[in-house]
Amino acid sequence: MPKVTYIAHDGTETVLEVAVGTSVMEAAVMSNVDGIMGECGGSINCATCHVYVANADSFTLPEVGAVEDEMLDATACDRLPESRLSCQLIMTEEMDGLRVRLPEAQY
Ligand code: FES
Repeated sequence: MPKVTYIAHDGTETVLEVAVGTSVMEAAVMSNVDGIMGECGGSINCATCHVYVANADSFTLPEVGAVEDEMLDATACDRLPESRLSCQLIMTEEMDGLRVRLPEAQY
């Protein structure tokens, strides 16, 4: 199963095996990873699943959609070029090794 590393604001790393088809947000919430809320359940309506993709150049990630783009302007912490909503990152085999940094706050 492909793996995702979640890097907390304090540098603590949590590695999860994430089933293909599961979002990076869902996997974190199901495993109680601190720092990802996912309050809207993935309907692109809360921006509490904000992450910074640390190694985006290594993958072909799904494009940022119009609604995601709008919500990324409403994140609690600064939007950076590597910002994504983790509910929109649906795991594929090719995303094995993805690393995401978690912002200091989600709201
Ligand atoms: S879980 Fe709400 S926008 Fe991602």
